[in-house]
Amino acid sequence: MTDGTDLFSKFDPLIAQRQALLDTGVKDPFSLVMEKVLSPTRAICNGKETILLGTYNYMGMTFDPDVIAAGKKALDDYGSGTTGSRVLNGTYAGHKACEEALKDFYAMDHAMVFSTGYQANLGIIATLAGKGDYIVLDIDSHASIYDGCAMGNAEVVPFRHNDVSALEKRLGRIPEGAGKLVVLEGVYSMLGDIAPLKEMVAVSKAAGAMVLVDEAHSMGFIGPNGRGVAEEQGVLDQVDFVIGTFSKSVGTVGGFCVSNHPKFEILRLVCRPYVFTASLPPSVVATAATSIRKLMHGTNKRAHLWENSKRLHAGLKALGFTLGTEEPQSAIIAVIMPDLEKGAAIWEALLAEGLYVNLARPPATPANMTLLRCSLCAEHSEEEVGQILQMFERAGKAVGVI
Ligand SMILES: Cc1ncc(COP(=O)(O)O)c(C=O)c1O
Repeated sequence: MTDGTDLFSKFDPLIAQRQALLDTGVKDPFSLVMEKVLSPTRAICNGKETILLGTYNYMGMTFDPDVIAAGKKALDDYGSGTTGSRVLNGTYAGHKACEEALKDFYAMDHAMVFSTGYQANLGIIATLAGKGDYIVLDIDSHASIYDGCAMGNAEVVPFRHNDVSALEKRLGRIPEGAGKLVVLEGVYSMLGDIAPLKEMVAVSKAAGAMVLVDEAHSMGFIGPNGRGVAEEQGVLDQVDFVIGTFSKSVGTVGGFCVSNHPKFEILRLVCRPYVFTASLPPSVVATAATSIRKLMHGTNKRAHLWENSKRLHAGLKALGFTLGTEEPQSAIIAVIMPDLEKGAAIWEALLAEGLYVNLARPPATPANMTLLRCSLCAEHSEEEVGQILQMFERAGKAVGVI
């Protein structure tokens, strides 16, 4: 096979970069195995008990006894899977109960559950914005948002990250009468910064656009009822679509869209990533529904999570690390590394200490940054946050980052 016919040739630069990294002696940071998971905050990795600080398990619901009991009962009562699409044999009582839980959680009229959050963005964005329509989106949007744009036929107009006047200018250039969808996120997961949704929703509405906000990283935690950044900033009632996931605060897998739009239900027939895939297993929707209902009463846990976030941010800053935000804005604290080699080295040193964080690198990151992303959990104790800081100090000094 010559290079010209080998479809893998395009990956050669990435293969070379990966090999160069492994040649420096570090382990592959993208193939870690969780050998046993002990709790929302602890696992056995490489035979060692490890504190988990990179799982987005914000509210620690994965081991909640009520959630686990609901999953076990659904497994016994309904079997291991639906073997079908939501529009054929794949809607069970549990899927409807899960959508009811979401409607109650967000106080909205409609809820549609997808098999992942990725598919929720893919489906809703590609289906809503068609030929002749415009999607205006933050340039740092999640891959699932970009893939939703790529799957549809609308014009895609990115604007500078979190820049309200750039959004306004882009909206102003769209031809009169065209359909407009503005796509925003509440929390941006790479740096852990939040969007100025109040201002962005105002300029979007003034331009006659519909607004979709992905609240994947804020559900259950930000806002008086945990409904996200739009709720926190008092504009949830003007947001047309909220997208979310069960893979973070809810503690399982799945995705959803909630809305008050009167014609919303038609999407169930036309949204391809909803129609042409099997629905979530009964045990998953049962755990999700139970978790969502418990998150409605999570005020104490939310307060503790904020304390953890503030404590970690202040501690890392005091140690001399460069962080993604001046102040903590969410449960994600991003530590900016000078380059991929140092990032991988400190990632490995932390793992040897017994701490797991996410290593993130381009193209997933903004401005070609290498990041150590920390996501806190409401179940991390004050003592654990103290231990985490000590581990960062030792690893940072050993690698020469601080
Ligand atoms: C902002 C955002 N949207 C959507 C998703 C996709 O969620 P899921 O893991 O449910 O596919 C993620 C997860 O990485 C995300 O960070």
